[in-house]
Amino acid sequence: MSDETYYLTTPIYYVNATPHLGHAYTTILADTMARFQRLRLGPEQVYFLTGTDEHGDKVAQAAAKAGESPQAYADRISGVFKETWKRLGLTPDQFIRTTTDHHKRTVQRFLQQIYDSGDIYFGEYGGHYCFGCERFYTEKELQDGKCPDHRTAPTFIKEENYFFRMGKYQDWLIDHINGHPDFIRPERYKNEVLSFLRDPLEDLCISRPRARLEWGIPIPFDEQFVTYVWFDALINYISALGWPEGEEFRRFWPAAQHLIAKDILKPHAIYWPIMLKAAGIEPYRHLNVHGYWKIEEAKMSKSLGKVVRPLDLADAYGRDAFRYFLLREMTFGLDASFSEEALVARLNADLANDLGNLYSRVLKLIERFYGGNITGWTYSGTFSDATRDALTEITAAMKRFAFSEALGAIWNLVSATNKYLVTNEPWKQDPGDPRTKAVLFTAAETLRRIAVLLMPFLPETAERMMRGLGIDAPPTSIRLEEGLSLGLLDRSLERQIREVPALFPRVESATPRSSKNRKTTAAPSEVSPDEITIEEFRRLDLRVAEVVEAEAVPGSKKLVRLRVRLTGEERTIVAGLREQYPPETWPGKQVILVANLKPTTLMGIQSQGMVLAAEDEEGKIVLLTPEQRIPPGSQVR
Ligand code: MSP
Repeated sequence: MSDETYYLTTPIYYVNATPHLGHAYTTILADTMARFQRLRLGPEQVYFLTGTDEHGDKVAQAAAKAGESPQAYADRISGVFKETWKRLGLTPDQFIRTTTDHHKRTVQRFLQQIYDSGDIYFGEYGGHYCFGCERFYTEKELQDGKCPDHRTAPTFIKEENYFFRMGKYQDWLIDHINGHPDFIRPERYKNEVLSFLRDPLEDLCISRPRARLEWGIPIPFDEQFVTYVWFDALINYISALGWPEGEEFRRFWPAAQHLIAKDILKPHAIYWPIMLKAAGIEPYRHLNVHGYWKIEEAKMSKSLGKVVRPLDLADAYGRDAFRYFLLREMTFGLDASFSEEALVARLNADLANDLGNLYSRVLKLIERFYGGNITGWTYSGTFSDATRDALTEITAAMKRFAFSEALGAIWNLVSATNKYLVTNEPWKQDPGDPRTKAVLFTAAETLRRIAVLLMPFLPETAERMMRGLGIDAPPTSIRLEEGLSLGLLDRSLERQIREVPALFPRVESATPRSSKNRKTTAAPSEVSPDEITIEEFRRLDLRVAEVVEAEAVPGSKKLVRLRVRLTGEERTIVAGLREQYPPETWPGKQVILVANLKPTTLMGIQSQGMVLAAEDEEGKIVLLTPEQRIPPGSQVR
C-alpha cells in the first residue's frame, strides 16, 4: 500500500449567507477530487475537510439583522451548509466550525507561539476599512475610492492594534514560490502573487479592539482584543488535524492541497504560508485556484443580488447532471458563465444522448437478443488499451485539477464506443452469430469500465450503470486499475442484465425547470426565524384533488377515509373532519391537498397527504375548495 497521503481542503464559508452555486462548485470539485484520490491511494490515505467560518463583523451584523445571537445564528446557518452538502451527496471527512472550543484554543496557541517568538508587535494604524471584506485597503487597491469587490466606499479607521511582521518573510516567500513553480497554480495566479510581491509587503494588522467587535477569538496575551478573522480562519486547516500533536496532523501535513477561488488568493498565497513559516510549520503543498462563476456577466455574489441555489438545480436536474455540468463547463482557473440553458444543453447532449443512449441501446439489444443473459461471454479486447489510456489521461489531468479534461477523456471513450457500434451495426446482424455477441459484449464491458472511471465524477450514475449490468458497485477499497481489470468476464458467474430506467431523461422544455426557483432579483441575505423564503414555500406541493369516495374510519368519531384523484393517480387520505363533513358530503368535492407531505399512518390506514381547512376562533372548521371547478391535479401557487 502506498504511504502517500492526500489532504484536501475547501475554504470555510462565511455563515452570513446560505450556500449558493459558488460554494457548491468548490465543494463539489473537492468531493470529486477526494473520491478520485481515495480510489487512487486508498480511502484511509485521504482526508477531505470543509466547514464554516463563523466569527467577524459580517456574521455579527447578519445575526443582529436576523434578531439572533451570533452563536445561535452561526449554528443555524452552519447547519444549512452541512445539510446542503449532505443532500448533494458530498463526502467530507470533517466539517470544521471556527466557534468550537478546540479551534479557539488552537488559534490562541498559534498566536501565543508567534508572539513569544517576536513576530507580533503593538502599534497604531489608520486605513480604509471595508466591512464587507473585513480588511483594510491601501489607496492603490481601491477603485475610484471604493472597495473593488463590494463597490462601496470604505470607512477610514484609526486605532491601536497588534501587527504581524509579514514583511520580514517577504524574501523567503518569493524564494519559496520560485523554488516550487507549482506551489500556486494555475500559473496565472502564481504570476499575480509574484507581481504583488514586487512591492514591499506591509505588516498585517491581526487584531480588532473588543470595544468595536466582540464576536471573535480573544487574543491570549491581551483580552482587550479579538483576533482578525483571517488569522482565525486560516488556522482551521491545521486545527482540524489536531496541530501540533494530533495523529492526523502528523499523517496529513504538509501533504495539503488547498482549493479556493481567486477572490481569496492573497490571504492563502501570502498570509498563510508566512504564518506557517513564522510558527515553524512546513508550507502546504499546493494552492489550487479556480475562477468565478458569473451570471449574466456580473460576478455572482450575494451583495449584488444574483444567487443561484444549488439544491434547486440538483433537485430539478439530478445531482449527477448538476455535478457534471459544473465539472465539465469550467476550465480550471478561468471564469465561466452560468446559465440553466447551458446546463440543459450539456445534459441533453453529453448525458442523455452520448452516454445514456449508448447505455440503453446496448442493454436493450442484449435483452432482446439473449434475454439479458451475459454469462460466459468473450470480450474482444478492442478497448482494453483505450480504457487504460483514458485512466492515464485522467490521472494526469486530475493532478492539475483539470476536471473538464478528465471528463473529456471519458467522453472520448464514450464516442469511440458509439462509433464502434455504428460501424458494426449489431442490430442488423444475426443474434446467433458469435461475432454479434462479441460486439455487444465488448460494448457492455467497455460501458462497465466507463462506469468505473466515472465513479469519482458521477458516483450515482456509475453505480446505476453497474447495477444495470448485473454487478454491484465495487467496494470502496478498490483502486481504479483493479476496477478496470475485474471485468464482467468472470465466465463462471451467472450474469444477468437488470432492467434499468434511462440514465438521463432528456429535458425537452425550453423553459428551464428550476427557473421558477431561481433568484435573479435581490436575494434575502438572511432568513428571519418568522419568515420563510419563497423557495421554502415552493417546496410545498399544493394541489387540487377530487374526492372519489369517502367512508367513516371505524373506531374513530373524527376520522374519515377519502379516496381522492389527482392527475392520473388516486390516493388515500385520512382527514379529521368527519364531524363537520360526514362521509356522504364528500364525493365529487374538490379539495386542496398538501401532496408532498410525508405519508403517515392513522388508525392503521396510511394517509398520503393532508386536506386543508380553515378554523375560526370558536373552533368552527370549513373546508378549502377552489372557487370554480378545475382539473384535478392542478397546482396551487
Ligand atoms: N470565510 C472565507 C474563507 C476562509 S478560508 C480560510 C470566505 N468565505 S466565502 O463564504 O466568501 O467563500 C468564498 C469561496 O466561495 C470562494 O473562494 C469560492 O470557493 C466560493 N465561491 C463563492 N462565490 C463563487 C463564485 N461565484 N464562483 C466560484 N466560486 C465562488 O471567503
